[in-house]
Amino acid sequence: MSEYLPGLEGVPATQSNISDVDGERGILSYRGYPIEDLAERSTFEETTLLLLDGELPTAQRLEEFTQELRQNYRVKYNIRTLMTALPSTGSPMEMLQAGVSALGMFYPGNECLTDSDSCTDRDYVDNMTVKIIARMPALVAMWEHIRNGYDPIPPRPDLPIADNLLYMFYGEEPDPLLAKIMDTCLILHAEHTTNASTFATLVTASTLASPYAVISGAVGTLSGPLHGGANERVVEMLREIGRPENVKTWLDKQLDRKQIIWGFGHRVYKVKDPRAKILQKLMERLPAERGGQLSPLFETAIALEEAATERLGHKGIYANVDFYSGILYMELGIPIDQFTPLFAVSRSAGWLAHWHEQLSDNRIFRPTQVYVGEPLRRYVPLRERTS
Ligand code: ACO
Repeated sequence: MSEYLPGLEGVPATQSNISDVDGERGILSYRGYPIEDLAERSTFEETTLLLLDGELPTAQRLEEFTQELRQNYRVKYNIRTLMTALPSTGSPMEMLQAGVSALGMFYPGNECLTDSDSCTDRDYVDNMTVKIIARMPALVAMWEHIRNGYDPIPPRPDLPIADNLLYMFYGEEPDPLLAKIMDTCLILHAEHTTNASTFATLVTASTLASPYAVISGAVGTLSGPLHGGANERVVEMLREIGRPENVKTWLDKQLDRKQIIWGFGHRVYKVKDPRAKILQKLMERLPAERGGQLSPLFETAIALEEAATERLGHKGIYANVDFYSGILYMELGIPIDQFTPLFAVSRSAGWLAHWHEQLSDNRIFRPTQVYVGEPLRRYVPLRERTS
């Protein structure tokens, strides 16, 4: 095949049985289970095991995995020291990338990943998987305190990942609805077929690099505004719009200038992203708990979604997961620049499932290209060059 397709649109990069998206009907499933069921009935820990093992866990497997995760919440003191040396104004995604990468220096051993029999030490793969999933939330929450000049709040190994994450941010056990919202956000963002950061995961994994190199590469890929960074832009956009009554004029101006509407459009979904629908419903539960008040940002979001769907729906452009996730994180009190790190925390489950899958049948990625440069030519010595 020699045809170049920009963005590899429609080109299968792998064969996978981890998740599936039907973009025409708006269906997302993990290992065959619809995302709606998982969001309502599962937990992040259980969904992570489903992604990793391929089946819903037994009670015993879930209990053992949960305990292993909890024993690994705590991050090494040296990593904390490293974090204190980073600039407090720096990007939290770059901190996370650096933190994950640095963790790898404490856990060498990827020589057990060999090309002939891609993994000769299953314990290494399983242990590193637990360490990464357990420590990424801690890194994100610790950074919030370290960058503000405070000591991080130690983790609570008696709490699930979602609750512990909020606890490490705020120092108190979260309200059950807020913990449920965080847990649901973690489930919804945990996996999404071969998107840009998962593709980066596969490419790095295929070289048999360490899982820390694999995941830090994926974190870097997720950081861009066309991918995970969009939820931050959504909140900035909604703030710029201000009130629902400003939506129409703002949207007309934006579309006339061919500007992007953040949180809209998706390479695969041609209808509203099912994750956006779930997040919107969760968002609607909040006012009931808060004396019937809709957040002004949410009101503006609803008005923008309606107007933008009217203008862009005919092109198959609808709200995606990032449209509502940012607003929800705002309601949880999470600072804007920590939204994408939280996305990375949840996506670590999917990335690691893909790491396992890639290792189980590995071949290094080495695509081709269509060369459009100069034909072979003679080297001209410096003194003979005239222009
Ligand atoms: N606002 C306005 N117009 C849009 C938008 C948007 N958000 N998204 C796509 N379009 C238009 C494009 O301008 C283009 O129009 P044209 O045919 O008249 O030139 C057409 O729709 C096709 O768009 P592409 O950019 O070619 O679509 P692609 O599949 O390459 O990009 C992407 C998908 C990057 C998600 C795009 O829709 C976008 O930039 N969205 C905004 C950023 C965003 O929300 N990203 C998060 C995605 S979800 C995630 O990664 C978790």
